[in-house]
Amino acid sequence: MKYYFITGTSRGIGKALANTALSEGAKVFGLSRGNTIEHKNYEHIVLDLAIIDDVYKYSFPVLTDADKIILINNAGSLGDVAPVGQNPDEEITKLFNINTIASSILMNKFIKQYKELATEKLILNVSSGAGRHVVESWSAYCASKAAMDMYSMVAADEQKKYYKNPVHVFSVAPGIVDTQMQTEIRDLEKEKFNDVERFKDYKANGDLSKPEDIAKLLFQIILNPSKYSEVLLDVRNL
Ligand SMILES: NC(=O)c1ccc[n+]([C@@H]2O[C@H](COP(=O)([O-])OP(=O)(O)OC[C@H]3O[C@@H](n4cnc5c(N)ncnc54)[C@H](OP(=O)(O)O)[C@@H]3O)[C@@H](O)[C@H]2O)c1
Repeated sequence: MKYYFITGTSRGIGKALANTALSEGAKVFGLSRGNTIEHKNYEHIVLDLAIIDDVYKYSFPVLTDADKIILINNAGSLGDVAPVGQNPDEEITKLFNINTIASSILMNKFIKQYKELATEKLILNVSSGAGRHVVESWSAYCASKAAMDMYSMVAADEQKKYYKNPVHVFSVAPGIVDTQMQTEIRDLEKEKFNDVERFKDYKANGDLSKPEDIAKLLFQIILNPSKYSEVLLDVRNL
């Protein structure tokens, strides 16, 4: 049996990833605040990734019949969009909790729980191009994704060097995808986000990818990890 643990399955890219895994016959554990998936092989775990005490309490189950185990840290938040100096302090904490701290803790727990299993194991973090170049007013979001890129690179390096049963680790930018996150970006005021028109144009020009198409591209990596030697990937260059 293949087991997937996917954060942020209630909508967008995470929901498309969960549905793709379910269509393969895998068992999927989804972790987010809300749930919109009903399937015999789907189990939802209600978890607010901004509440780190609750993330500490989560434990990955013991799996005795696994052929492959996959963790996808997909849940993410853009947080409060405004230049540094204008963000409410607590919004900065919340964003890093969701995008960086919770994802790092889940990776740490996953590697610890399954380190003795000789089965194939993989972690895929849904990163962002914004973690790799400057986007005005997105300081915490950019920094949170850059941190996950580096956390992934260190984990991947350690796995390759020291682990008998290594975990494949990737951090992948998904491109611009037609989800609620993009709707939220287009709804921002120009005073807070100077570049909002560019994102409205992406939508008007049909430049946004469908979550289902991005899930398929991410599955190219999940199903053939040995084909990819880099930890940091971008679906636009696969
Ligand atoms: N869409 C894009 O163009 C784009 C581009 C680059 C990177 N990304 C990245 O892709 C990933 C998925 O984004 P998306 O576009 O699919 O966004 P989305 O449609 O807004 O979905 C976000 C998901 O994250 C979950 N989430 C948010 N806050 C959470 C919390 N506090 N606790 C638990 N889960 C939480 C949401 O579930 P609940 O609300 O039910 O908790 C939801 O399922 C994110 O990491 C995002 O940064 C997206």
